[in-house]
Amino acid sequence: MAGVRLENVWKIFGGFEAVKDMNLDIKDGEFMILLGPSGCGKTTTLRMIAGLEEPSKGQIYIGDKLVADPEKGVFVPPKDRDIAMVFQSYALYPHMTVYDNIAFPLKLRKVPKSEIDQRVREVAEMLGLSELLNRKPRELSGGQRQRVALGRAIVRRPKVFLMDEPLSNLDAKLRVKMRAELKRLQKQLGVTTIYVTHDQVEAMTMGDRIAVINQGQLQQVGTPEEVYDRPANTFVAGFIGSPPMNFMSASITEEGFADFGEFQLKLLPDQVEVLEEAGLIGKEVIFGIRPEDVYDAFFAQVKIPGENMVRALVEIMENLGGEKVVHLRVGDVALVGKFPAESKVSEGEEVDIVFDMKKIHIFEKGSGKAIF
Ligand SMILES: Nc1ncnc2c1ncn2[C@@H]1O[C@H](COP(=O)(O)OP(=O)(O)OP(=O)(O)O)[C@@H](O)[C@H]1O
Ligand SMILES: [Mg+2]
Repeated sequence: MAGVRLENVWKIFGGFEAVKDMNLDIKDGEFMILLGPSGCGKTTTLRMIAGLEEPSKGQIYIGDKLVADPEKGVFVPPKDRDIAMVFQSYALYPHMTVYDNIAFPLKLRKVPKSEIDQRVREVAEMLGLSELLNRKPRELSGGQRQRVALGRAIVRRPKVFLMDEPLSNLDAKLRVKMRAELKRLQKQLGVTTIYVTHDQVEAMTMGDRIAVINQGQLQQVGTPEEVYDRPANTFVAGFIGSPPMNFMSASITEEGFADFGEFQLKLLPDQVEVLEEAGLIGKEVIFGIRPEDVYDAFFAQVKIPGENMVRALVEIMENLGGEKVVHLRVGDVALVGKFPAESKVSEGEEVDIVFDMKKIHIFEKGSGKAIF
């Protein structure tokens, strides 16, 4: 087993910078997620780790071993990196049984027959495929096929797993089930895993840590809690969480309020202190609050009229059964709240809303960098 380290890694296609100065230190046994929108450079990063793509600049280490460094002329080919990849479109051999599909990488490596048999059965047991070893891929469900593809990767006992959206071909229900199975399996095997997805729910539920990428650039690396509770900038704040965080333009007043024109919210003393230190008193900022931190006043624990309570118009109400997603408006300011199912709001009517001021975020205007 081994960790994986990227140091100042770039990938430039023609003139296009697909990966820009990436630094990532993935610990031995860690489940690391690469998360970001389509085209942000996730697959390219994974392919460079696999050795299917050479970095334009920078160093890649697997364990202590330098596997790529164009300046030094170092490039270890994929077959010598001891990694296994699972892709979105997992091509199983259609004419081979499940057994032979899983055994295939070991046969290629000329592992003795008796050992192959033992390892295939062990992996099949782990993945709940023992009863299906004689079937052909066409006789399997999508989830079962996906597990065979995983089995084929696991059976080799590689140092590192690289997975590129391996669950995206499955239906929603199966995806949720496989998510949990994969996470359990990864912990059981203890193999360093780098998992690419653009699905923030997958990232939040599966990862030990998440690396958020946008336009080839690493935005933040942290545990799911860290990226959710303390996003480094507006991109991360807006990408993780559904419905997304509300962003509102505000100016910070001398008296310690966030002023939205139509209304004001009183900031907490320690927040004012931080804003003072950042030189933002009297300045324009971006104020962020997640929908779940905007309450229907009727259900709010702490409401201080004039400080964190405002009257809003309910424009649209989406009833999700267990909760209500409410699109609100206060003058020019539009925002979304997540209210409990029992909330009595209805479209076209007004409601008192309460902001949980402990949960707010302030970002620098322009750079989008988080102040807190
Ligand atoms: N071989 C290539 N030649 C030129 N440009 C490329 C090449 N491979 C990838 N790119 C570009 O690099 C960028 C990153 O691509 P990449 O496949 O890494 O994105 P991704 O994050 O995996 O996206 P998705 O979620 O859609 O799979 C894209 O703009 C893509 O068009
Ligand atoms: Mg991709």
